[in-house]
Amino acid sequence: MRVAIAFGTRPEVIKIAPVYFELRNRRINTLMVATAQHREMMDMMLEVFKIKPDIDMNIMVHNQTLNYVASEVFKKMDKVLKDEKIDVLLVQGDTTTAMASAMAAFHNDIKVGHIEAGLRSKNIRDPFPEEMNRRVIDVFADYAFAPTRKAKDNLEREGVERERIFVTGNTVVDALQMISKKLPEVEKGDYILVTMHRRENIGEKMESVLKALKKFSKESGIKIIFPVHKNPRVREIVFKILGDCKNAKLTDPVNYMEFLKLLKSCRFVVTDSGGVQEEAPSFGKFAVGVRNTTERPELVESGWGVLAGTSTEGVRKALEKALNFSKSGKENPFGDGRASERIVDILVKGKTEEFKG
Ligand code: UD1
Ligand code: UDP
Repeated sequence: MRVAIAFGTRPEVIKIAPVYFELRNRRINTLMVATAQHREMMDMMLEVFKIKPDIDMNIMVHNQTLNYVASEVFKKMDKVLKDEKIDVLLVQGDTTTAMASAMAAFHNDIKVGHIEAGLRSKNIRDPFPEEMNRRVIDVFADYAFAPTRKAKDNLEREGVERERIFVTGNTVVDALQMISKKLPEVEKGDYILVTMHRRENIGEKMESVLKALKKFSKESGIKIIFPVHKNPRVREIVFKILGDCKNAKLTDPVNYMEFLKLLKSCRFVVTDSGGVQEEAPSFGKFAVGVRNTTERPELVESGWGVLAGTSTEGVRKALEKALNFSKSGKENPFGDGRASERIVDILVKGKTEEFKG
């Protein structure tokens, strides 16, 4: 069997890395195909995991549009799939890289495995365009690797056949466990760890969240550490609102090891990132989700976080709740560190025991 893995952004590298290592440990021929939808942020993560792509399409341009990324991936992936003998193409999540690569494989009648299938906000425009991307991939994926039972339920409700669905846990937990082994002890810090980058938040929503945070930090004395995404539209807003805030430390994106250190020692996190919400419980941290919808209801249901929305008032209330959070000893609802093992079992043997979390 020959497997190809397509990826292009920061979170994809983190979440496919453990699957790649599992395939390699089982001596399965694996081709790593990078679109480089993110140039620096993808490379930064590849460096942490010491992964070298076999093919690098190098597509990123500044302020790229969705159709630019999609059309480059379609064109370049088509050639790769025609040149290389591939039995299954694996994609992860809901990026344009994932959607266009998966569709390019389908067009070439090559099997597709979707890691992190079945996440649904149930609003096609939020997150934009990710909700559309993930739904599209699940229409035809031969293997829908759902991280949780809720994700499986979503797929069944949409009519995805049971034989295509496998509950595996989220590979982000495998990734952070791999890296955590190398993390030093860290002191408890008195800061909120913040990340924000989602397309649908860019503009007034992001401004109102950041203003609420600024006010809260000033009143409570709790600092902010914010590694700012490379997207120029995000950077403009973040620096405009928090640039003059003495309590806020704004940095460039940091590598995964550094980010997990920050997560381990912070008071709590404020984020619109999918991955960060899934990681926070593993470090016993409360997550304030600054979005209006979520495809990760497990966070709120398990008590590890709230969905604050993006209004100043909603964010203020959520920040107060986060201050009073006490760890409940619950496990991470997103995974148990064995997702990659299950995914590869399914590819090789066609079966595995389900993640029951
Ligand atoms: C993408 C994904 C989103 C994911 C996010 C992870 C889509 C539609 N969206 O969004 O689901 O949550 O990545 O971070 O696929 N840039 C750089 N260097 C980098 C990375 C980005 O300069 O290393 C700048 C470029 O100007 C680029 C812009 O950021 O054009 C936007 O990147 P893009 O991948 O199009 O969108 P994201 O918002 O990052
Ligand atoms: N992350 C990182 N450095 C940073 C910010 C985030 O390593 O400066 C990691 C974080 O731990 C998580 C992932 O990047 O695993 C999330 O990526 P992002 O928020 O860009 O995308 P999303 O998960 O929202 O798709």
